[in-house]
Amino acid sequence: MKRLTTLLAAFLIALCAHAGGLDGIVPLPMKATLLKGSLRLSGAPVKCDPAFDETAREAVAAFAAQLGYVSGRACPFSAPVGLSGAAASGKVKGLVFLKDASLEPEAYSLDVSTRRAVVRASSTSGVLYALQTLRQLLPAAIYGTGTADRERWVIPACLIEDRPRFAWRGMHLDSSRHFWSVDEVKRYLDVMAMYKLNRFHWHLTDDQGWRIEIKAYPLLSQIACWREGTMIGRDFDSNDGIRYGGFYSQDEIREVVDYAAARGITVVPEIDLPGHMLAALSAYPELGCTGGPYAAWTRWGVSDQVLCVGRESTFTFLETVLSEVAELFPGEYIHIGGDECPKDEWKKCPDCQAKIRELGLHDDGRFTAEQYLQSYVTKRIQAFLATKGKKIIGWDEILEGELAPGATVMSWRGMAGAQEASRKGFDAILTPTSHCYFDYRQAEDPAGEPLGFGGVVTLERIYSFDPLDGIAPEDARHILGVQANLWTEYISTPEHLEYMLLPRLLALSEVQWCQEGQRDPERFLRVLAEHEYPVLDAAGYNYRK
Ligand code: ACM
Ligand code: ZN
Repeated sequence: MKRLTTLLAAFLIALCAHAGGLDGIVPLPMKATLLKGSLRLSGAPVKCDPAFDETAREAVAAFAAQLGYVSGRACPFSAPVGLSGAAASGKVKGLVFLKDASLEPEAYSLDVSTRRAVVRASSTSGVLYALQTLRQLLPAAIYGTGTADRERWVIPACLIEDRPRFAWRGMHLDSSRHFWSVDEVKRYLDVMAMYKLNRFHWHLTDDQGWRIEIKAYPLLSQIACWREGTMIGRDFDSNDGIRYGGFYSQDEIREVVDYAAARGITVVPEIDLPGHMLAALSAYPELGCTGGPYAAWTRWGVSDQVLCVGRESTFTFLETVLSEVAELFPGEYIHIGGDECPKDEWKKCPDCQAKIRELGLHDDGRFTAEQYLQSYVTKRIQAFLATKGKKIIGWDEILEGELAPGATVMSWRGMAGAQEASRKGFDAILTPTSHCYFDYRQAEDPAGEPLGFGGVVTLERIYSFDPLDGIAPEDARHILGVQANLWTEYISTPEHLEYMLLPRLLALSEVQWCQEGQRDPERFLRVLAEHEYPVLDAAGYNYRK
């Protein structure tokens, strides 16, 4: 009887492990076919084609080490020459990663039989995504830190062919309004990587704090990174009286960039200009129209005090800062902000007005002279960054006035920015407040939700987002992809940050990755409850249930 119970228990565990078959994979793969049987991965040899680069080989080796550790049976890793020949002759066992140049850059395939699993990819990204998929086919304990040798470390026999719909699969983080430690940023990157996101938009500067060390301007990380307190709740006239600050040293920036790269994520830094610059002005008041004094803001909102762009010294500042930024971040884009730049001071400033006259700018009924002045700044910074091999991204305000070819527009005030940009031949990224602002609360009913910015973006809403809504078919190639933004005015703890991020990030990942017409809200909600919440629990994330 005891033996029978044990057998029955083993059978039930086996059933559970396979109850969902391929269900646990989020974002849903392009094609996935469940076959009969399964393959035990604990103790299996793991081999990686030496033709892959070090990042890919190290990621596969780390997966093998983690699997060996949690399952209690080591998975020996190697990168033997001649692996593809052995695979072609059918002589491989265990888990094998092969380079296949015929696949698209971010694509991968997974072919699992009861004898072996073969992953094919042409690039490091493909290998990294295949590893995420493999983890999702294993018990959730693969994400944990403890051993779980009683789990069944098998994956179902299957065939998967997968690639993303959009190239830009972004997530943004505001480190200015509240500062996030390097370890907190890494946890953010980890969960992005789990769901195959590939761009981390890092908002590093704003009115309330400057967060990146710039060697040529040391006061940015001595003065501009501090504010004398923070408003309490929604009371704009209050101040908690607690000095608040923090910045990332250049070594820490490099550490984050490398950590992200190892997970297939490119970091896109944002230096918001010419508005949202009050913190910088507090350290270098000569950069403002009035000369100050200025202090980093203790309240949320948009300061009227912006960079004086009538003086050459401001451009010296910007070019010096951006030169250091360009060195630190190897990606092809630098985000230069451009949003919410009040023009009140420029209207009053003799230097800004002299610049307007010198450039021959004037109101033309469409835009004001001051809006054209901002265009001048955008174009000049774009041309400068081009000499550093970088392209610019700006918030959709950069469409006001004139935009030079090669700029990319991040559409946040709805879809109109992306529609106009793509119609005019500019690339665009969609981050509309209506679907992609994760600082908005997750439920219609504010009761039970933490204090937030206002506005609602439910899980269902982000899941229902149609990125090509209102985009002409012939312009769709200009839509690089989709990103969600997480502004942190009202978010000051890592638990709250993760709560706002999750599980909405998972819905976002299906918007970004799944082929058109593949999303299924019912399936998604079921998979979330059955597979993804246990995964997030094992990985130790806080999330909204
Ligand atoms: C923004 O939310 N100000 C881009
Ligand atoms: Zn000025």
